[in-house]
Amino acid sequence: MYSEKVMDHFQNPRNVGEIENASGMGTVGNAKCGDIMRMYLDIDENQVIRDVRFKTFGCGAAVATSSMATELVKGKTVSEAMQITNQAVAEALDGLPPVKMHCSLLAEEAIHAALWDYAVKNNLQIEGLSKPKTDIGEEEEEEDY
Ligand code: FES
Repeated sequence: MYSEKVMDHFQNPRNVGEIENASGMGTVGNAKCGDIMRMYLDIDENQVIRDVRFKTFGCGAAVATSSMATELVKGKTVSEAMQITNQAVAEALDGLPPVKMHCSLLAEEAIHAALWDYAVKNNLQIEGLSKPKTDIGEEEEEEDY
């Protein structure tokens, strides 16, 4: 049912963890399955994503897609990271079963939520980026753990 790449990223997820004083941090959740994903970005003065970490409390596909998403955004500029869609993440994993596509959407949303946080902190406008709808916020999240 899952590709080898999905299994690999699920079993050996890349870039797991946190970044202290991250340039941007975003947490998103899917109300239906209850899965939560948090993304941390370290962005330098040239808007290049130097480092990225994630924590996912969710299904195997959510872990695999967030791991792959971190690999895809690392070293990219903010505007290049904006081009990374959930389809791109799923394709990089050699596909996902249709019922698991929403998991890759969570990865895309987590990147956007972290970029939104970075933009707000630095008073920047990022083209194509709007306030994340699924950012569940700090207070609510504590209850969800
Ligand atoms: Fe919800 Fe995978 S089942 S993120």
